[in-house]
Amino acid sequence: MHHFHYLNNELYCEEIPVRDIARAVGTPFYLYSEATLTRHFQAFDSGFAGMDHLTCFAVKACSNIAVLNLFSGLGGGADIVSGGELFRALRAGVPPQRIIYSGVGKTAAEMREALEAGILMFNVESPQELDRLQAVASGLGVEAPVAFRVNPDVDPQTHAYISTGLAKNKFGIPVEDALREYVRARSMSNIAIRGVSCHIGSQLTRIDPFIEALGKLKKFISLLEERDIRITCLDLGGGVGITYADEQPPHPHDYARAIQKELNSMQCRLILEPGRVIVGNAGVLVTEVLYTKVNTGEDQEKRFVIVDAAMNDLTRPSLYGAYHEIRPVVDSGAPPQLVDIVGPICETGDFMARDRLLPRVSQGELLAIMSSGAYGFTMSSNYNSRPRAAEVLVSGGTFHVIRSRETYADLVRGEVIPVREEP
Ligand code: LLP
Repeated sequence: MHHFHYLNNELYCEEIPVRDIARAVGTPFYLYSEATLTRHFQAFDSGFAGMDHLTCFAVKACSNIAVLNLFSGLGGGADIVSGGELFRALRAGVPPQRIIYSGVGKTAAEMREALEAGILMFNVESPQELDRLQAVASGLGVEAPVAFRVNPDVDPQTHAYISTGLAKNKFGIPVEDALREYVRARSMSNIAIRGVSCHIGSQLTRIDPFIEALGKLKKFISLLEERDIRITCLDLGGGVGITYADEQPPHPHDYARAIQKELNSMQCRLILEPGRVIVGNAGVLVTEVLYTKVNTGEDQEKRFVIVDAAMNDLTRPSLYGAYHEIRPVVDSGAPPQLVDIVGPICETGDFMARDRLLPRVSQGELLAIMSSGAYGFTMSSNYNSRPRAAEVLVSGGTFHVIRSRETYADLVRGEVIPVREEP
């Protein structure tokens, strides 16, 4: 359920016509609904209300500091994967004690920053990372709180690029090796064992892979207990999917209930790292039709709708073949046509949708690319020297530009033409 709806054939975000925002900020732009963000955060978080838990929003899904600040105000924390995300989370006002640091390639400098900030926990993903963290923590004279990210070798049944919990994926430490690492960590002077963590993939539409992974984690935790290694945190990662087209992912409450049932008497603080399920359907990308054209070949005719958003703005269709519903901002009721909706970038792979039935649109009309709140803006780039889009947050009857559109000057910031010596 989200707050993008039609009133008199016109798309609104909460109480504001999307057209009005486009007129004020230009296109393309990302548009988020605060009511939807809040509702989705609370729907997820409240599922675990009966348990000691912390919902750490996965910053990579939508990293604008206004969004992070909103979740922090609702009691959430942050799941980060880089020094840059740490910077954002702190800037947004997320208390360091609510920050979890995941990722396979943390640098020593990033570890130092996170230790200095006093974050809740590092999710360590390799023996060498543990050694480096020990060295960095010792240099600072502090203790590093850790969990190991265990790779349970479970098939999440999702897109190959975003499945992370299989043995062949680069993530985590195999369950069989993890025990050895906990024993090693216990003897390290600047490492404090706090938990076990796991994240098996993204856009999961079924509960059973989560439960299968949790079963393996529980067995592993009892092995730890046999060695007298006690953990206080269990981090189950993110991964709950959303509806882009006709997927039927579990409701967050069903997901929460299944997990609570499986955990029953376990005395651990539960940490969750949801991203997509909170922001995915809370954001859209608004774009303007620049041109329409028909390319005819010998035996075919292809209709193109060329818009001012491109694969640099929303990469998901090009990268994963992802489906995003596309709706006219003003629904004229025109008959549908089979079209490719493409951007201005010089690659055939630059498309928002292919062979899609869309009501006939003409130059200057606006389209909303739905379900773009997660991994939309955060994966955008400057390819083809296109300034990145603006981000706008609607709250009831008002809107705020929470990130201005980049300028041409932003494009060359930091670039230098070397001054060369005369020969
Ligand atoms: N925790 C960890 C350790 C992760 O690696 C991820 C996502 C999450 C949490 C959040 O997962 P979520 O709840 O959003 O599924 N760019 C891709 C998705 C990549 C997900 C990477 N990891 C996409 O656009 O589909």
